[in-house]
Amino acid sequence: MILTVALNLAIDRSVMVPNLALGRRHRSVDSTMVAGGKGVNVARALSRLGSPVIATGFVGGLNGEQVVSQLERERIMTDFTPITDETRFNLAIVEPATGEQTEVNERGPMITPDEAEAFVERLDYLAGGASICVLAGSLPPGLDEDFYARLVGILKRREVEVVLDADGGPMAEGMRAGPSVITPNRVEAEELVGREFETVDEIAGAIPELVTAGPARAIITLPDGCVAGLDGPDGEVLVRASIESLEARSRGGAGDAFVAGYVAGRHRGLDPKGCLALGVACGAESTQHFGAGIVDPHEAERLASEVELEEVGSAASTI
Ligand SMILES: Nc1ncnc2c1ncn2[C@@H]1O[C@H](COP(=O)(O)OP(=O)(O)OP(=O)(O)O)[C@@H](O)[C@H]1O
Ligand SMILES: [Mg+2]
Repeated sequence: MILTVALNLAIDRSVMVPNLALGRRHRSVDSTMVAGGKGVNVARALSRLGSPVIATGFVGGLNGEQVVSQLERERIMTDFTPITDETRFNLAIVEPATGEQTEVNERGPMITPDEAEAFVERLDYLAGGASICVLAGSLPPGLDEDFYARLVGILKRREVEVVLDADGGPMAEGMRAGPSVITPNRVEAEELVGREFETVDEIAGAIPELVTAGPARAIITLPDGCVAGLDGPDGEVLVRASIESLEARSRGGAGDAFVAGYVAGRHRGLDPKGCLALGVACGAESTQHFGAGIVDPHEAERLASEVELEEVGSAASTI
C-alpha cells in the first residue's frame, strides 16, 4: 500500500470570468470544483496509474466534507484525521480568452496540538501496512516547521520508504531526518543549496550536496525531465532523464504527477531508471489535462518509453 500525506489540502474552485476588474461585480460563465493540495494530487495520479493508495491528512468543516465526498466519487481511499477548524478554500479566477489565472489561496486551518498528535498516531498505525509514503505540500498553521522531520522519523522506524516533496523550512528540516528521496524542482533545489544554477552540470553537482544533508537520494525535476543520483555498480551515478517538451494545456501539478509516476514505478519494482522514466512521463502527460493529478496511464507508459536517460557523471567526481 502507498500512503500520501496532505496536511493542508483544499477545495480548489476555478471560475471563468471574462474581463475581470477590481471593484466590479462579475458573472462567472463556468466553474469547476476539485479536491486539491499536493498530497491529494499525488493520490489521484497514483489511483489513475492503478497503484493502491490511501490519502491521509487533516479535514475539517463543510469544505473538509466536500473533499472527502469528492475523493470518494473518484474512488480514492481516504483516512483523514478530523479537525475543528475549516479545510481551506482556494479560488482561481480564469480569463476565458487568454487562460490567464488569478489565484486567492487561504493559508489553511489552525491545527491544535491534540489534533497533530492524533494524526501522528494514525499515520504510525497506517505505516504498519504501507511500503511507501509521500509527504507533499505546505504545512497548515499550528504545525511546527520540523513536523515533516518528525513524520520521516516515524515512517523510517516502520521501514517505510519516504518521498518528501516540500519547500522552505519544512523541506530543509525534513530532509535532515533522512527520507529515501527528495524531489525539489529547480528553484526549490537552488534555495536548498543557496545558489542559482546555470548549467545541467551545476544542477547535477548539487545532487551529492543535497544527499550529504540527509536524504538517501535526490531528484531535481526540470521542465523537460530531471537529474537524479542513482546506485551504479561503482557507487552513485548521476543520471539525466529528458523528454521532448509538450505544449502544455495546463501546468499545475506536473511535479505531483512526476512524484506519482516515480512512486508507482517503485511500487511495481521497476529498476531505478525505469522509475525516473515513468515519473518524467507522468509529469509530461499531466500537462495535457486540465485538473492537477490527472494522468492517462496508457499515454504515460508510451511516453516513458520515449524518455532518454544518460549518465552525466559520478557523484564522487562532483563532490
Ligand atoms: N511542457 C512539458 N513538457 C514535457 N514535460 C513536462 C512539461 N512540463 C513539465 N514536465 C515534466 O513534469 C515534471 C515536473 O515538472 P516541474 O519540475 O516543472 O514540476 P514542479 O515545478 O514541481 O511542478 P508543481 O507545480 O506541480 O509542483 C518534469 O520531470 C518534466 O519532465
Ligand atoms: Mg513541485
